[in-house]
Amino acid sequence: MDTQDLKEAILRLKKEKQAYILAHNYQLPEIQDVADHVADSLGMARHALTIPNDCIVVCGVYFMAETVSLLNPHKRILIPDTNAGCPLANFAPIQEVKRWRIQYPDHTFVAYVNSSAEVKAEVDICCTSANAIEIVRRLPNTKIVFLPDKNLGRYVQKHVPEKEIVLWPGFCVVHETADLEALLRTKEAHPHALIVAHPECPEEIQDIADGVCSTGQMIHFVEQHPEIKEFIIVTEWGMVYALQKKFPDRVFLEPSHRMECKNMKRITLTKLYDALREEKFIVKVPDDIRERARRSIDKMLA
Ligand code: 13P
Ligand code: SF4
Repeated sequence: MDTQDLKEAILRLKKEKQAYILAHNYQLPEIQDVADHVADSLGMARHALTIPNDCIVVCGVYFMAETVSLLNPHKRILIPDTNAGCPLANFAPIQEVKRWRIQYPDHTFVAYVNSSAEVKAEVDICCTSANAIEIVRRLPNTKIVFLPDKNLGRYVQKHVPEKEIVLWPGFCVVHETADLEALLRTKEAHPHALIVAHPECPEEIQDIADGVCSTGQMIHFVEQHPEIKEFIIVTEWGMVYALQKKFPDRVFLEPSHRMECKNMKRITLTKLYDALREEKFIVKVPDDIRERARRSIDKMLA
């Protein structure tokens, strides 16, 4: 089947099975096109609570499907490729988190949602890049361990100087490659463009950005700057498609060095079609982990 046939077949199957397709902003353009809802991690979690369908196909990386499953334990949650993991989440294996808890008994542990359900069950609260500053600021404890992303943790520390944050030494392999030289070259060629970067980018990129935003916040940033025609988007390139689709009259540029998350891009139309047809692969979190992990997510959402 060609792309158009596959898209039509997916939409037919989706209707027949009364399934809902929830996708992340980094998904391939053709996946975004067939999705019922496209959002950032926080938006996906919040939206998952409002979906009436019994079957939800999550087009994103594994922890996103796990979060949707935690929030909807009685529904069928599918992911089209179980190998779509998040290397950032792998920086925080559960045994290491348990070891740190012993090492830092007086600290409140905050886990970025880019972590396994087991880790979410072990920490005090979760956050996403959209709410990390607010969550850390509101915690009663001044001593915090932030995991697993050091770049986001450092960004939070800058905005919440009254807290003492111990950073976990993890990073996103995609955002860590954001290249300052490439970005400056793009800015030189487009001097009127605003630079919008994800907080998983290294500090030197965040420092020269006009806005540091989660993928969802990038949409608000563009809305808040109606006078600006061009934006340089320093994150995974799927976001450029999401923005271009929402704002056809503006121009969204990637820095000359493209950033691609191979894991996000594992979800293809063919795999999505197979997932719907065969109702695979089911994502389910064991009960004992689910209850504790859900507590960390619920605290974040509250
Ligand atoms: P957002 O929460 O901003 O969508 O980011 C998720 C992610 O995986 C970034 O790399
Ligand atoms: Fe994980 Fe980075 Fe891919 Fe986001 S872009 S899913 S943090 S590897």
